[in-house]
Amino acid sequence: MDIVNHQFRLAARPVGLPKRSDWNYVEEPVREPADGELLVKILYISLDPAMRGWVREGKSYIAPVEIGQVMRAGAVGQVIASKNPKFAVGDSVVGMLGVQEYALSDGRGLNKVDPNIVPLPLYLGVIGMPGMTAYFGLLDVCQPKAGETVVVSAAAGAVGGVVGQIAKLKGCRAIGLAGGAEKCAYIVKELGYDAAIDYKNENVFNALQQHCPAGINIYFDNVGGDILDYALALLARMARISICGAISQYNNTGPVRGPANYLSLLVNHARMEGFVVLDYADRWGEAARELAGWYLAGKLKSREDIVPGLEIFPETLLKLFSGENFGKLILKVA
Ligand SMILES: NC(=O)c1ccc[n+]([C@@H]2O[C@H](COP(=O)([O-])OP(=O)(O)OC[C@H]3O[C@@H](n4cnc5c(N)ncnc54)[C@H](OP(=O)(O)O)[C@@H]3O)[C@@H](O)[C@H]2O)c1
Repeated sequence: MDIVNHQFRLAARPVGLPKRSDWNYVEEPVREPADGELLVKILYISLDPAMRGWVREGKSYIAPVEIGQVMRAGAVGQVIASKNPKFAVGDSVVGMLGVQEYALSDGRGLNKVDPNIVPLPLYLGVIGMPGMTAYFGLLDVCQPKAGETVVVSAAAGAVGGVVGQIAKLKGCRAIGLAGGAEKCAYIVKELGYDAAIDYKNENVFNALQQHCPAGINIYFDNVGGDILDYALALLARMARISICGAISQYNNTGPVRGPANYLSLLVNHARMEGFVVLDYADRWGEAARELAGWYLAGKLKSREDIVPGLEIFPETLLKLFSGENFGKLILKVA
């Protein structure tokens, strides 16, 4: 086959914020698919905070990427050769295809998607893994009831943007935290949040107290750290906290900072529960149908931050940790 692949392979385990030298950018020829395999030309690659965890050694919900392996990433692309009867040339597919231009696959874990229903990048965002995370993390883990107050951190992001919108669809009040005036205006005016707190420029505890006078019924935590502690201090009776992520802690070189105010769970008969979206894989179809239905009916908005150029993967990933991404961060393979 006369095709050359470019890919990022893990070169070193990052210490603190990842840097370019933690990966090798390599070139290698693509071989013909063997029987049962297919070859995908990757078009869009999902950049996720979880990638920081995947390159860390130690026990997690998924095995770490090993040194020398192609960096793990969700991606969408098009089948350009197939010796797998389930996939035909021209099919669009989504799956863990890696940070590279072409991926050989045996088809396991790949799902067909239809670009005529929604544009392909949305299968990495609102109709993809982040949308599923918002859907199950809110509806299953927290079981919101109409009239309840739902607080969401990283509320302008891929997951948080969807959580607030689903909370509103379920009749809740949604209060979002985001960094900066522009993101705060966006979550209220575009996404329908009832109020926004600019955690970089406001006193978060006072603002939460003001916006949640009867306490917080649900806190959807994407960031951990101080904000989790403030939310704990303001829980309503029988509150639920969904531990979705803790991005403020991912690049720590020391231990993760745990919550000091956890006894608020006892006092308020409250519950704090972690979850991983992969645990819901057998129900993704159900979530995708409902999310796509809301999106097509104009009830769910989506924003993607699409950056062109595979070769700037390491620098682009850092946008997630500085807050420079505005919406679902996606790398467009040029
Ligand atoms: N449990 C699961 O299965 C699962 C699945 C997917 C994602 N997640 C988690 O969900 C969270 C959001 O992921 P995403 O893909 O939707 O990313 P995202 O929100 O689109 O992007 C990350 C955002 O986090 C905010 N942030 C970065 N550093 C921060 C800090 N120190 N304090 C407060 N906010 C900070 C920034 O927004 P601002 O500009 O507002 O600061 C940044 O834009 C992450 O923790 C991720 O690990 C979990």
